[in-house]
Order: sequence, then C-alpha cells, then structure tokens
Amino acid sequence: MAVIENQRGFTSNLGAILAAAGGAVGLGNIWRFPYMLGQNGGGAFLLVYVFFVLLIGVPLMMTEFIIGRRAQSNVVGAYRKLGGNNGWILLGVFGILGAFLIYAFYSVVAGWTLNYIVLSCKGGLAGKDPAAVAETFSSFTQGSFWPVFYQFIFLLLTGLVITMGVQKGIEKVSKVLMPVLFTLLLFMCVRSLTLEGAGEGLRFLLKPDFSKLNATCLLSALGQSFFSLSIGMGAMVTYGSYIRKQDKLFSTSLWIAGCDSLVALLAGVVIFPAVFAFGMDPASGPELVYIVLSNVFNSMPAGGLFAIVFFVLLGIAALTSTISLLEILVAFAVEELHWKRRTASLVCSLLVFIIGVFCTLSFGVLKDFKIADRTIFDLFDLITASYLMPIGALLMTIFFGWFYPKAEVYDELSNGGTYKPRAFGLYYFILRYLAPLALAVIIISGLVG
Ligand code: TRP
Repeated sequence: MAVIENQRGFTSNLGAILAAAGGAVGLGNIWRFPYMLGQNGGGAFLLVYVFFVLLIGVPLMMTEFIIGRRAQSNVVGAYRKLGGNNGWILLGVFGILGAFLIYAFYSVVAGWTLNYIVLSCKGGLAGKDPAAVAETFSSFTQGSFWPVFYQFIFLLLTGLVITMGVQKGIEKVSKVLMPVLFTLLLFMCVRSLTLEGAGEGLRFLLKPDFSKLNATCLLSALGQSFFSLSIGMGAMVTYGSYIRKQDKLFSTSLWIAGCDSLVALLAGVVIFPAVFAFGMDPASGPELVYIVLSNVFNSMPAGGLFAIVFFVLLGIAALTSTISLLEILVAFAVEELHWKRRTASLVCSLLVFIIGVFCTLSFGVLKDFKIADRTIFDLFDLITASYLMPIGALLMTIFFGWFYPKAEVYDELSNGGTYKPRAFGLYYFILRYLAPLALAVIIISGLVG
C-alpha cells in the first residue's frame, strides 16, 4: 500500500510530541493522580508509579507507536493489518470500546472544570466557609441540567477540534495549549510552595511510607500509570500512525512520558503543600481538587485569581485529552466505515454523550443505582483503569512480543534501518518477558487481593 506520509499526520516531531503529550497529560495527572496518591499513602505510591512508568509505560507506549506507524492505521485497522486473521483484531475492538467508556466518564469531570471556571470568574466561591464550598460542589454535581449541559459543551468543543483535522485541529491546538498549560502550572507551583507550612505537604508527596503498600495499591499505581500515559488500549496506536517515518520513536516516547510524569509531579507540588498548609484532608478522594482546593483558594491571598488559573489549567489539560479520545473513535469511523470526518465526529460525540449522561447522572438522580456496590461512573473508571488497560496491555505484549516478527519490530523502530535504536535488546526483553509477567502478576494479585 502506498503511503503518503507527511500528508497523513503530524508535520513535525515537536508537533507529534506535543499532541501525544496533550493526550497523555490530562485530568489523570491533575485530578486523578493527586487523589490516588492521597488515598494510597503519598510518597510510596509516587515511587511505585514512576517505576511503572519507566519500566513498563515507556516500552508499551513505544510499542503502540510502532504498531500504529507500521500499520498506518487506526487501532482496529492496525491489528487487522498486522495480526492477520487470527482474532487479534479483537484487541482493536477492545481499544474502541475502552475509548468509549473512558470518554463517557471523563467528559463528566471535564464538564465540571467548565462550571468551576465560570464559577471562579464570577467569584461564586469567594468567602464561603468549607461547608458551603462542599455544598456548592455537591449541589452542582448532583443536579441534572447543568452538569449535563457542561458535559455537552465539552464534547462539542472537542468535536470541533477533531472536525478540523489532525494537522489543523489536533496539532495546532496542542502546540498552543501545551505551553500555556506548563506556564500556568509553574505559576501555581510557585504560589503553593511559598505558602506557610508548605513543607509538610511536600514531605507527604515525596517521602515514601512503604507500610502503606499492598497489592491493591500496586494495581492502583499500575492502573494510574497506564491511564495517565493513555496506554494499554491502543489509544497511542492512532497517534503513532500520524508520527513521521523519520522520527525516532524511543526519544519521542521518552519525551511524552517525561512531560506526563512531570505534570503529575508538579500537580502534586501544587496541591499537597496547599492542602496541608490549610489543614485539609489529602485522602478525600475524587472531589479533592474541586472541594479541597476551592477551600484552599478561599483562604489564600488573591485566591480568586489562582482559582481561575487553576481551573483553566485543568480545563486545558482535559481538552487535549478528550481530543485524543475522540480521535481514536473518529479515525476508526473514517478509515474503517468510510464516514466523512465531520459525520464521524458528530455521531461518535453523540453516542458518547448518550452514555456519558448516565455517568453524569450517577452523581445525582442515579446515585443509588449501583452495580457491584459502585455507581456507573465509578464502575466505568474501575473497569477501564484497573482491568481493561492492564489486560489490554498484557494481550498486546503477547501479540507483539510473541506473534509478530522481531525483524519487523526492529525495522520500524530503526526507521527502516536508517539508525541504530538504543537498547533494542532491553526493549525486546521487556516486551517479551518482563512486561507480560509483571502485568500477569499484578492483575492476578489485584483480582485475588
Ligand atoms: N491520559 C489521559 C489523562 O491522564 C486520559 C486519556 C486520554 C486516556 N486518552 C486516553 C486514557 C486513552 C486511556 C486511553 O487524563
């Protein structure tokens, strides 16, 4: 098949890195990571997390890039092309399903950021005591109209970017938003670190307490690293197919994982010193950044301004990620079903909206509708991050390490033999033995424990 490389995807390596880092950096880093860390004992979780990112995350992200770029195709097409007729295409279907589920619950929290941007611009949180701040959060999230409305707006925004295409939409938007995100984050770090009593929060973040670690923590840290890097379900396969043939996949993956971990760490640096400085609870769960930080903003000088900056930051992070989620679905619909990009974008967004509304309402009218003791929202989160992603990753390593020819892996990684990729032996060892073994052990112990 003739491939017109540079018309299909990103125009530069920087564009590819920023777009994929945009997909990776998201609510996962700024909303989910801090509360997972808060609930799993702080520093020890961070250490395990970083270990998983380096040992399994980077090699697997690279694997997804290799698969996507080799096949020049969306996730379903990629497994069909590279896997022959052996059922590996199911891994692609798995990816589409996962993207749907994630996008459905992710867009709920993304919508919340819009509400909080509006609220903080209007000064709607200023001067409220902690009880009133918590009440604002719960009466908003438990409502029906407004959370669904903001979720819809977020889906619409994402849909517009995707309709504009890979280069003019995804790449351009990422090139503007990612530097803005970093700047805002650094600004917030300075504020947080200069608070009186910041040290205790830093200690919580950085000082490991290994007595808190157990199998569930390990599974949570693994799930978090996959969720944050967007790996395990072929999301990066789609972006991999847009990376230029001359770009080096190892360094590209390292940059992306580096950006992603840095943002998670900096988000921790923003959040925990502030949480401790104002005596809030670091283990308060999913509402950590919304309720706890709102209180924090209320008690600091010029907090109103910092609240706006923070929620804009959160919104930007969420947007570049929802873009990557929708692109998985749209690339599939365009390439496999031959829909027009605009139609695909519209229909996929609508489908996600229909499922997503149930996730939104699971905080309100559907609060008591529980499956296995979890609301729909929690269930979607748990199924994807703790099961689909690790299992998807395990199957991918089995396919690519054991069934796909090593020579072809080497050929793609070395850009057709034009340079010698670093540490290929190590990469292949991780792909073939270490990653599947580690994944199997963790999945099983998570299931049993
Ligand atoms: N990585 C994103 C975050 O940290 C979430 C995300 C975006 C994702 N696209 C994905 C997760 C695809 C899994 C698969 O917020």
